[in-house]
Amino acid sequence: MIAIILGTRPEIIKMAPIIRECQSRSLDHFVLHTGQHYSYQMDQVFFEELELPTPEYNLDVGSGTHAEQTGKIMAGVEKVLMDRRPDVVLVQGDTNTVLAGALAASKLHIKVGHVEAGLRSNDRSMPEEINRIVADHISDYLFAPTENSKDNLLKEGISEEKVHVTGNTIVDSVYQNLEISKKKANVLEKLGLKPKEYFLVTAHRAENVDNPERLGEIIKGLRLVGKEFSLPVMFPMHPRTRKMAAEFGFEFDGIRAIEPLGFLKFLQLEANARLALTDSGGVQEEACILGVPCVTLRENTERPETVAVNSSILVGANSARIFDGAELMMGNDHQWTNPFGDGTAGRQIINILS
Ligand code: UD1
Ligand code: UDP
Repeated sequence: MIAIILGTRPEIIKMAPIIRECQSRSLDHFVLHTGQHYSYQMDQVFFEELELPTPEYNLDVGSGTHAEQTGKIMAGVEKVLMDRRPDVVLVQGDTNTVLAGALAASKLHIKVGHVEAGLRSNDRSMPEEINRIVADHISDYLFAPTENSKDNLLKEGISEEKVHVTGNTIVDSVYQNLEISKKKANVLEKLGLKPKEYFLVTAHRAENVDNPERLGEIIKGLRLVGKEFSLPVMFPMHPRTRKMAAEFGFEFDGIRAIEPLGFLKFLQLEANARLALTDSGGVQEEACILGVPCVTLRENTERPETVAVNSSILVGANSARIFDGAELMMGNDHQWTNPFGDGTAGRQIINILS
């Protein structure tokens, strides 16, 4: 029996191919949602659009400090795991849901599989870096998306036999949904946009949006990019960013701040953008997969493959560097090979576990 634990927007999107694989093979499995994300646009919309079954469990932990959230998830996950005793627990990525799910399972001596293992920003001030390191070191199956992520694990002394390079399930999700999104989502029309004639922005990373200087510089840089290139700047805004901007008294004139979008609409907006500007992990990957140049609003990245293939450039949160990065990437030739796999990661992961 496989227990699939998820809790946030990217985990729903990246676990979807694995859930689908379990369904199509009629494998004994269940999905446990921690409730870390709970707003309709951050949660339910993805279950509807990706046609995923309602999770068997929802812990409804909601938001809180790191320890509160992690502790609540651990206690809730432990109860379910003691009751169901699955053979393996799967977690995906680097959120508090992953840390808590992996810890609760490993202490019950239940095997843990970490999907998207081995990513490293080498920046321990990021909560995600702590979560990934701990999850990797207590996992029994490490599903690394690339050879580079495998190398990171081997350098930390993790035994090679536990590590499997499968590609990233985001490729599966993009391939499985791009055509559907073309047919179903008329988001460009609705927003009055023309293909390749707008910028797409997302930002939600704590180190950017919880810091008034960095968030202020990002907004200034985005305004500059929109004005100089005379193109709309579309910013589907994560609730964390909206909340912090309101707290700091920032306005979004010159930027089209909209509600977060469902995956099908977002994919369309992403595939047709002139550039993506983002601090999101998933968006760095998707831009690379979709052939859209990316300006990464970070000082470092745990997705260095995107920089290596020249699909992305790191500019941090400085308005002048954001502008220079955008100008440079607009001249990009879009000629790179996606380093994140061939869209069979979900199948490979289930093959290995089977
Ligand atoms: C979390 C992850 C981050 C991941 C991101 C994906 C951790 C430490 N962080 O960040 O790694 O990249 O999810 O989006 O696990 N909120 C809502 N509705 C929601 C969810 C959140 O309004 O459904 C607001 C609340 O004000 C909350 C804030 O967003 O306090 C932050 O939510 P939280 O889950 O703590 O972290 P994220 O920033 O979403
Ligand atoms: N995404 C979405 N709607 C949006 C913004 C993002 O569906 O309005 C998707 C995006 O396609 C990607 C994922 O959310 O697959 C990325 O999630 P997020 O940026 O919240 O987290 P991260 O990847 O940084 O952990």
